[in-house]
Amino acid sequence: MTGGGYPEDDPADGLFPESVAAGYDDPGGMNAPEVVTPAVDLLEELADGPVLEFAVGTGRIAAPLAARGVPVSGIELSRAMAARIADKPGGDTIAVTIGDMTTTRVSGTFSLVYLVYNTISNVTTQDGQVDVFRNAAAHLRPGGYFVVEVGVPELRRLPPGQDTVPFAVSPDTDKGGYVGFDQYDVATQQFSSNHVTVSRDGTGVFRRFPFRYVWPSELDLMARIAGMTLKHRWADWDRSEFTAESTKHVSVWQKTA
Ligand SMILES: C[S@@+](CC[C@H](N)C(=O)[O-])C[C@H]1O[C@@H](n2cnc3c(N)ncnc32)[C@H](O)[C@@H]1O
Repeated sequence: MTGGGYPEDDPADGLFPESVAAGYDDPGGMNAPEVVTPAVDLLEELADGPVLEFAVGTGRIAAPLAARGVPVSGIELSRAMAARIADKPGGDTIAVTIGDMTTTRVSGTFSLVYLVYNTISNVTTQDGQVDVFRNAAAHLRPGGYFVVEVGVPELRRLPPGQDTVPFAVSPDTDKGGYVGFDQYDVATQQFSSNHVTVSRDGTGVFRRFPFRYVWPSELDLMARIAGMTLKHRWADWDRSEFTAESTKHVSVWQKTA
């Protein structure tokens, strides 16, 4: 079993090549209106002029935000993902730059930069994550906001001696069998999300996505290094209170005037 080798995939697209991009916009889950709309609502409220999405993907959030009249730009590593943006309502107005959000600069100054859906963790080094914060600050006008949506590391689910947490075991789906599990290395703050799909004909695919988990307090320090301070931390896009039981957070840092 392998996580690659699809003839349509371009290695330059990293972990989100054509074979992944093709299914990214499937209805339901993260694409459901009840997931997308609260995010777009809050981002629209925080925006006060042009906005920039880091790792804009297929425009899942950026396109509906642009459709509301907000001027949206995006940076994205994968051409296969970005190619889908223009097909969405609002997407044809989005200026997309292919590049790495740790270093790529786009022209303009923004009222809001945002990075959603755990994608800060796709950058697998601490230095790289700090560079994301520095790059966000470099694009913001003084007083502008940087918003990150990311899960709280789930280490409380790991008993001593265990490094793996299964999150889905579905022996019989439309497509065959599926097993999903996360695997943690607490010494290095690396973790991986692992997806095994076995088709009805017995052939299988194993995809492994490497991440670096990061604590809310560590993100606050990265923001401070980049010249930003924490303004809000919510448990979700609905501004619910962030508590010890929260499994994710939506954090807003403000660039120091
Ligand atoms: C989970 S998807 C999220 C896409 C979109 N933000 C959304 O919410 O649907 C992660 C995206 O981040 C992109 N990505 C990962 N690392 C990146 C980097 N260093 N610079 C730019 N894009 C990156 C991937 O190509 C992929 O499109």
